[in-house]
Amino acid sequence: RQVLLPRDPKLPPEVFHLIPVFGSAASYGNDPIGFFESSRRKYGDCFTFVLLGRKMTVCMGPRGSNLVLGGKLSQVSAEEAYTHLTTPVFGEGVVYDCPNHMLMEQKRFVKFGLSQENFEAYVGMIDEEVTNFLNKDTRFATFQENDPSKWDSFHAFRTLSEITILTASRTLQGKEVRSSLDKTFSQRYLDLDGGFTPINFMFPNLPLPSYRRRDRAQKAMSDFYVDILRKRQAGKSEHDHDMMASLMGQSYKDGTPLSERDIAHILIALLMAGQHTSSATSSWMLLHVAENPDVGEALYQEQVEKFRNADGSWRTMTYDELRKLPVLDSVIRETLRLHPPIHSIIRKVISDIPVPPTLSAPSEDKTYLIPKGHFVMASPAVSQVDPLIWAEPLKWNPARWAESAAQTHYSTYYEAGEKVDFGFGVVSKGTESPYQPFGAGRHRCIGEQFAYLQIGAILATLVRNIEMKLTHPVPEHNYHTMITLPKDPCDIAYRRRTKA
Ligand code: HEM
Repeated sequence: RQVLLPRDPKLPPEVFHLIPVFGSAASYGNDPIGFFESSRRKYGDCFTFVLLGRKMTVCMGPRGSNLVLGGKLSQVSAEEAYTHLTTPVFGEGVVYDCPNHMLMEQKRFVKFGLSQENFEAYVGMIDEEVTNFLNKDTRFATFQENDPSKWDSFHAFRTLSEITILTASRTLQGKEVRSSLDKTFSQRYLDLDGGFTPINFMFPNLPLPSYRRRDRAQKAMSDFYVDILRKRQAGKSEHDHDMMASLMGQSYKDGTPLSERDIAHILIALLMAGQHTSSATSSWMLLHVAENPDVGEALYQEQVEKFRNADGSWRTMTYDELRKLPVLDSVIRETLRLHPPIHSIIRKVISDIPVPPTLSAPSEDKTYLIPKGHFVMASPAVSQVDPLIWAEPLKWNPARWAESAAQTHYSTYYEAGEKVDFGFGVVSKGTESPYQPFGAGRHRCIGEQFAYLQIGAILATLVRNIEMKLTHPVPEHNYHTMITLPKDPCDIAYRRRTKA
């Protein structure tokens, strides 16, 4: 696409605010999506707002996403936007604490561990963990013994957080992490997590106890992984299909091997990147399934038809079978459309960016320049509920992902002649796609397949064992955390299925 250089570039319009420096922090912080939508109506697809002294330029719609996610390395930097938040948590030398080309190599190393062979092994492990959780967890087990036909309830996010860390540690993180979960590991994880909040993002260096706890936990966690690594190298510990095994022995293109600390810090980064994103998605998904018993029944029947043995016991799915379950797939996909865990994707502008006229207000042919020093922001969450693209955008409707229905919506959106990479349940992964829960471009998520596997296997085991319903509406979004979570009350009523 041709980018016209502006003859008379102006700064993008700035959202009106009363308090200098503070700017639009309250409106953005309480409801970023509502704030983006109302500002977009006033100012068009490109506008700037002030957030605690920083100038944030929001770029909406497909062209806006492309500008941020497909931006040139010479113009936008993820490292400069995120490193003050992520480096104290992940540790030094990895992800945003190294040049971009090293991150790209680290992503390649991680992809090596996210292999089909490992995924095959993970499905059974996740099934086993969830089944054990249901049988051993006091909430589920006590109740089961007393009266299996009675309805009880569980807190969706708290329960799914436990199940997510149990299953991620059993699979990607490795058995040593899994067996330490009941011990010190959990507290360290909580202390680290307490340092991964919007406050840490906005104020990197406050003299608060939580910052000190974060730093102590980072060091202890890093040492913990290095210790596992050394034991493995000394042949004292066995391992299966986990990420540490895949990272050991990997080298950068210039021949430098990944160091012990690099491996430890990549594992911490993967833990943090996957935990809240996956547990939030699974929570929203179960809340919607519980609200729609017909979908719960369709999911159950999909399992019964394919995986129930004649004697009523269940067969473990293969990874390939898991990927080919249309109801389960559409339920995850639709949940990520309405509730993408990351509502704002941010880059720092490191050299002036001329904005193509197509990104200006539709009625005016203005050209803007986003100056060096601003941050740019994309929000796929807005396109994912755009009424121009989606029929009944705020309705959770997994059936929209059936091929013919989805194609109708997209054809109304894309201009004639524009290439749409579309297959069953797959929307273009491009930087202009209206569906980007995993981002796009060079920083696109590498955990997508693992997340689908983990969330899908958890859902399958749950629907095999319990029926769910909601006694209140699906909760509203809580935007005060890094990841968009359901507000309370967020309880799901359930009862055990009786064996047919
Ligand atoms: C990046 C979403 C799970 C690892 C991202 C980005 C998004 C995202 C939107 C792009 C951020 C940006 O461009 O600034 C999600 C969602 C998940 C999920 C919705 C689950 C439902 C995971 C898991 C892992 C993971 C399970 C690890 C196994 C990463 C990493 C990056 C990333 C390492 C950074 C890539 C980079 O900056 O180049 N994720 N993620 N994610 N994700 Fe995920």
